Amino acid sequence: MSSICVVGTQWGDEGKGKIVDYLAEQADVVARYQGGANAGHTVVAKGKTFKLHLLPSGILYPGCTCIIGNDVVLDPVVLLEELAALKAEGLDASGLRISNRAHVVLPYHKLFDKLEERMKGNSKVGTTGRGIGPCYADAANRIGIRVVSWMDREAFAQELQTALAYKNRIITQVFGEQPLDFQTIYDEYCGYADQLRPYVCDTCALIHEELAADKKILFEGAQAAMLDLSHGTYPFVTSSHPTAGAVCVGLGLGPKQIGKVIGVVKAYATRVGEGPFPTEQLNAIGEQIRETAHEYGATTGRPRRCGWFDSCVVRYATMLNGLDCIALTRLDILDQFPEIQICTGYKYQGKLLNEFPASLKVLGEVEAVYETLPGWMAPTSDIKEYDQLPANCRRYVERIGELAGARVGIVSVGPERDRTIVREKMF
Ligand code: GDP
Ligand code: IMO
Ligand code: MG
Repeated sequence: MSSICVVGTQWGDEGKGKIVDYLAEQADVVARYQGGANAGHTVVAKGKTFKLHLLPSGILYPGCTCIIGNDVVLDPVVLLEELAALKAEGLDASGLRISNRAHVVLPYHKLFDKLEERMKGNSKVGTTGRGIGPCYADAANRIGIRVVSWMDREAFAQELQTALAYKNRIITQVFGEQPLDFQTIYDEYCGYADQLRPYVCDTCALIHEELAADKKILFEGAQAAMLDLSHGTYPFVTSSHPTAGAVCVGLGLGPKQIGKVIGVVKAYATRVGEGPFPTEQLNAIGEQIRETAHEYGATTGRPRRCGWFDSCVVRYATMLNGLDCIALTRLDILDQFPEIQICTGYKYQGKLLNEFPASLKVLGEVEAVYETLPGWMAPTSDIKEYDQLPANCRRYVERIGELAGARVGIVSVGPERDRTIVREKMF
């Protein structure tokens, strides 16, 4: 079976977009299975940079079927903007397919995201403000609106009336804000529905046809293990499951239909938004990483918090996802660091921990235990063969694999497609 799942192993922004785009050259289908427009996946192709939020990162290959699965929360405003940007570049998105079971992000979801963050004050999550949490909450609370209803004017009117009556009571009575107008939302979103209708189908049936025809399929994760609703640093997480298990529910597959799982690992660590980050470097090292790597959010433009590679995080992600191998990205960013630190474990109250702490209090207080490796102080971006990488660089790569508990199968040394060193066959 030729299906590969690509997941984030840290706090997101590991370079999933780059790796999926690279592998998509050989793929027939690329499918997103969770998340929404909170994702920002950067793909650099033919000298142009594309920031994809909802479109799967196979969209730049004509002929690739790109699926937005049932557990993705779909913001039509963002999707239409992305489609317009592709069109402006002369690219065709006819391979796009949107699940009729996906939930629609509506204006009140974005409003609630903002109001709830404001209400939380110092305990805010630091969300992307894209309405993700409120939309998934409505889905779980069975007051969400799915694409299939949104495409049907009558059903949409009825479901929107019900949802909006409920939302407006909270908006006015709890938050003291102005209510939202039904007709304005209805008219605007009927217009979006008309534009996106040609892409809507039963993507579960489609993906099973593709599997039966032995097509090559990539499952593209958004966010990452530490942001997983069940396994991440709750409550500083997203509202979906970026880990590989979610592929099954998010697209309608059985677990045996996932062939291989690749974890994308950044050669250091970053985080956007609030929450514990044991290897964060609030010093000149953190600044150097941020400025060298230009670590600013692809979705919100926020400066990303930067720190050293944390093997506790990636080892945990290896376990949560059952990783077969690692795609190590942004190795070139460390080219000019004379010494590089790797966190090998966490100490809490003087004792080494064996398990990744569930308690945020513990995670916030752990002492990261480091080992120091010599840097390589040489450019790596033009290197095409693994053996050509400087010896200290290979030593760093091998150590990461050893500590993470999965072999490094891909090494990425630049954002472009050709700056990718592949050590083993992926499909
Ligand atoms: P994603 O959300 O996981 O897809 O990652 P983002 O796109 O948010 O952030 C990753 C950033 O790193 C993007 O700007 C990519 O173009 C860039 N990138 C990916 N791989 C490499 C690499 O190996 N080296 C360098 N220098 N940049 C990379
Ligand atoms: P990609 O796919 C990095 C973070 C937000 C916030 C938390 C919850 O590009 O790796 P949300 O808006 O999802 O309710 O925010 O999750 N977050 C991300 N951080 N990369 C992402 O996506 C993220 N998507 C959400 O910053 O801390
Ligand atoms: Mg990103």
